[in-house]
Amino acid sequence: MEKIKIAFFDAKEYDRQSFMTSNAEDEFEILYLETRLSEATCKLAEGYDVVCVFVNDDVNRTVIDSLSEMGVKLIALRCAGYNNVDIEYAYGKIHIVRVPAYSPYAVAEHAMALLLTSIRRIHKAYIRTKDFNFSLNGLTGFDLHGKTVGVVGTGKIGRIFIDICRGFGMHVIAYDKFPAKDSGIEYVELSELWERADIISFHCPLTDENRHMVNAESIARMKKGVVLINTSRGALIDSEALLEGIKQRKIGAACLDVYEEESNVFFHDYSNHIVNDDVLARLISMPNVILTSHQAFLTNEALGNIADTTLDNVREFFERDTCTNEVCYKCSQLNVCEQKHEKKCF
Ligand code: NAI
Repeated sequence: MEKIKIAFFDAKEYDRQSFMTSNAEDEFEILYLETRLSEATCKLAEGYDVVCVFVNDDVNRTVIDSLSEMGVKLIALRCAGYNNVDIEYAYGKIHIVRVPAYSPYAVAEHAMALLLTSIRRIHKAYIRTKDFNFSLNGLTGFDLHGKTVGVVGTGKIGRIFIDICRGFGMHVIAYDKFPAKDSGIEYVELSELWERADIISFHCPLTDENRHMVNAESIARMKKGVVLINTSRGALIDSEALLEGIKQRKIGAACLDVYEEESNVFFHDYSNHIVNDDVLARLISMPNVILTSHQAFLTNEALGNIADTTLDNVREFFERDTCTNEVCYKCSQLNVCEQKHEKKCF
């Protein structure tokens, strides 16, 4: 049997290493491409059965049409979120699979790492002591114990983050569009969460409905000094409103692993360039903003799971009739099958 051919876009060194380990027996022919998938680059997938993409590859209508005309059968996302794919348009043309969970611990732990770094000023202390400056002025933090954390999205990552917060003796309130029954979590309406939480952490997918859920209006309802943590998707937060909230001293700190315009800058070294995004530049310049470059998933455990599940998804698609991790417009709209597919969706 001929090998299944995979065109792997936006490949980084750590991707290569984990996929080469998972594909140690050369079962698949994988072409690693450094470029992102876009209208301009999709021609590189000519002759391939599968296109493998990550969070910032743009799988829009034109790209879907081109790939489908070229005979690409499957788009294998090596991530959980699929807001960068036009799944409605893809339905009936090309199948989409994803990695629904690879290490929820990686993301939840990173969210807590950002929070602790921020409120205990570790990022400032690190630079000071490297320069033998042992002054404590300006490094005063606050205890997490007894504080109220508002968690938006109580799925796999949100639930682990809640457990971590409880370990710190924090009081947890949460909002979820589909609250988990009998979970022992105190669910509240979003408006109440904005008003009561000292710290708010986002762990829900980005949809048309919740884009910019943090905006001037919701920020106005929040407590003065609130700390926002976003390890989910950048566009949950209106960055200009966030910047304004920080300038007004309303927002105490922002811990961001994602940014709404991240696809233009994240994952690349721009240290010798002038960054054109003024909002990003201003946010980074703030002493109470910590930004990591969509790094929350980046652990050995997560990379291994991503590679194994992505190749399992491809194998399953071509060898069997099932498609366990298929993402399809109809399923996600009706929210009926929760991606537990007995058969392919079309
Ligand atoms: P999940 O599917 O297990 O949980 C998502 C939860 O959000 C569910 O409980 C769902 O009911 C809830 N939800 C859906 N729509 C909502 C809305 N409009 N408002 C509030 N809650 C809503 O997903 P998981 O694995 O916990 O991941 C959460 C998000 O984390 C992903 O969607 C992705 O955007 C992000 N993520 C970020 C990573 C990073 O490296 N920074 C890595 C992996 C995921």
